[in-house]
Amino acid sequence: MTRVSPLHAAALPLALVALAAFACTPPAEEATEEEVAIEEETPVEPEAEPATATATLMTADGTEVGTATFTQDVGQTTASFHLTGVSAAGTHGIHVHETGECTPPEFTSAGSHFNPTNADHACPPAAPRHAGDFGNVEIADDGSGHLEITTDLITVEDGPNSVVGKAVILHAGPDDCTTQPTGDAGGRLACGVIESGGMDGMDHDGMDDDGMDEEPGADL
Ligand code: CU
Ligand code: ZN
Repeated sequence: MTRVSPLHAAALPLALVALAAFACTPPAEEATEEEVAIEEETPVEPEAEPATATATLMTADGTEVGTATFTQDVGQTTASFHLTGVSAAGTHGIHVHETGECTPPEFTSAGSHFNPTNADHACPPAAPRHAGDFGNVEIADDGSGHLEITTDLITVEDGPNSVVGKAVILHAGPDDCTTQPTGDAGGRLACGVIESGGMDGMDHDGMDDDGMDEEPGADL
């Protein structure tokens, strides 16, 4: 009798420990917590923000009629032209010209088509052509138009083919894609200097230029 009870006394705590061990080790739950933690970390990839440049197109009387955005990806750059409020519907030549100066009313200050490879004038997708040749944009009756072209002839990042510091010109008439060296697209309806970075109000890097643009009295 006196030998049995110590055995029972010893066995009971062992059983409790065993139960406690089962209760306290839910291996599945701990594993999933670790997995979740890993999944939350992996989507944070290195920021590969594309190089972007933009221009705001203005007519000779200072009316804003659209924007041009240049976004550089691996090996090529997409040029996106958004026109609004253009006074004349129809087909209008649109180019990047070599000098980033938009002096109204003629905008001849913007010079010739941007042509770093000394090619002949043409319209995409014909090649070779001026790097600044983007053909024509169709303007609807409401004054709006959109053109998007991806090309390896231009870059946003520094280099001989960079459009930064050049100018976008919207012409009064259509580019015939053959006349040298201009495409005979008529007068210059609107002009915009291409600057590095995003549009005002939607710049996501915030480091470069925006914020300084309006200060030094360039508008006076
Ligand atoms: Cu032009
Ligand atoms: Zn050209």
